[in-house]
Amino acid sequence: MTIEHPPVTDWATDFDHTDPAWQRDPYPIWSELRGSCPMAHSERFGGTWLPTTHELVSQIAYDTEHFTSRAVVVSEARPGPDDLPAPIGGAPPITSDPPFHNLARRILLPAFAPKKIEALEPSTRALCSELLDRLEGRDVVDAAVDYAQHIPLMVIANMLGFPSEDADYFRQIIHQVIEEGVNLAADDEHRRDQELGFEAYFDRQIEDHRQHPRDDLTSFLLNAELDGQPLIHEHVRGTMLLILVAGIDTTWSAIGASIWHLAQHAEHRRQLVEQPEIVPFAIEELLRAYAPVTMARMVAKDVEIAGRQLHEGDWVLLPFPSANRDPAFFERADEVVLDREVNRHSAFGLGIHRCLGSNLARMELTVAIEEWMRRYPDFELVDPAAVTWSTGQVRGPRSIPVRVRT
Ligand code: HEM
Repeated sequence: MTIEHPPVTDWATDFDHTDPAWQRDPYPIWSELRGSCPMAHSERFGGTWLPTTHELVSQIAYDTEHFTSRAVVVSEARPGPDDLPAPIGGAPPITSDPPFHNLARRILLPAFAPKKIEALEPSTRALCSELLDRLEGRDVVDAAVDYAQHIPLMVIANMLGFPSEDADYFRQIIHQVIEEGVNLAADDEHRRDQELGFEAYFDRQIEDHRQHPRDDLTSFLLNAELDGQPLIHEHVRGTMLLILVAGIDTTWSAIGASIWHLAQHAEHRRQLVEQPEIVPFAIEELLRAYAPVTMARMVAKDVEIAGRQLHEGDWVLLPFPSANRDPAFFERADEVVLDREVNRHSAFGLGIHRCLGSNLARMELTVAIEEWMRRYPDFELVDPAAVTWSTGQVRGPRSIPVRVRT
C-alpha cells in the first residue's frame, strides 16, 4: 500500500521532501526556513526533523553519538527485525556506525584510490564521445535520457563487473530504493518482492564471481577480510547495493543539473569555452550549487538541538544542498560563480561518512561536461517547463530536452 501524502501547506510544521513543490524547486523553501525556523519538524514519515543552516547540518553530521546511520533513506518503513542491526546496517559503510564503520570504510579505500580512478578516465571519455556520436544529426536531444544517465550506469556496471545489458534493472533498483519505496508501507508485499528480487540478482552476480573471479569490485569484496575472516555474505551484498545506488543516481543527477544550468547561461558556456583552465573550479561550483544528495539519520539518543527536543527513533533529513546555499557560510550563496576559488561545499557530505566515491564522481562529471561542451559549445532548453526532476533525497533532472547547435 502506498501512503498518500497530502500537499504541504506549512513547510515549518508539515514539510515533506516528496512533495511536488520540493521536487520542482526546494531552494526557496530552505531559504525561508533558514530565516524563520532552522530546525523544522513534520509529523510525516512518523516524525522527521529538517535542519537547514550549514551550522546545524554540520553539527548533526559530525555527531555520531546521538545520531545513527542505520537508516539513511527517510521512508514509511523503519528498520525492522529482518534488517541487519547497527553497527553494520544493510549497506555498509553508509549504514554503519562507529567503531564498525571505520573497518567497513577502510576495506573500500583501495578501490577508490586516485590512481585507480585516473585509470578509468580514458574509457569514460570514450564512452561520453560514443554517446554523443549517437546523437549526430539531431537538433533536439535529451541531455538526461540520451546522455547523463548512461555515464555512471556504464562506469559502475564495469566497476562491479555486472553485465551492462542489465542497465534497465539497475535503474529499477535505484527508483525503488530512492523514490517509489519511500512511500510504501512497511508491510507492503510489492516492497518485499522487489527486495527479494534485488537480493537474488546480487546473489547470482556473487556466485558468478566465485566461479569466475576477475579484476573488479565484486571479486575484490569477495577476497576482502575483516579480522582475518572473509566478509559475511550480507556485508558483500549490502556494499554492492550501496555502490550501485550511491554511484549511479548521484552522478547522473550532478551531470544533468550542470548541463541544465549551462543550457540557461550563455555567459557560463562562453566562459568554459574561452577559459578551459577554470573547469576544476566550475565543477566544484556546480556541485555546490546543485548538490544532489540529502542524507538522513535516525536519532539514537534523545538530544536537544537548536532548542528543540529530538527523540530516539525520529528521522532527521540532512540537506547538504541547503547547507551549500547558506549565506552565513558562502558569499553570494544563491549565485553560481563559476570560478569561485574558496569553496568548502558539502555536496559530498561532512564527517565520517564523507563520500568515498568523490574522486570518481569528479572525474565523471569533469569528463562528461568537457566532452559535451566540445561537441555542443552552444545549446539551450527547448522549454524550461518540460524539464522533469527526480523525487526524494537524490535530486536531479530526469528529462532535459535541449536544442543543440554544433
Ligand atoms: C556527484 C556524485 C556524488 C555525490 C553528490 C555523493 C554524495 C555523497 C554523500 C553526501 C555522502 C555522505 C553520506 C552520509 O553522510 O551519510 C556519500 C557517501 C558515500 N558515497 Fe557518494 N556521492 C557521489 C558519488 C559517488 C560515487 C560515484 C560513489 C561510488 C561508486 C559513491 C560512493 C559513496 C560511498 C561508498 C559512501 C559512503 C561512505 C561512508 O559511509 O563512509 N558516491 N556520497
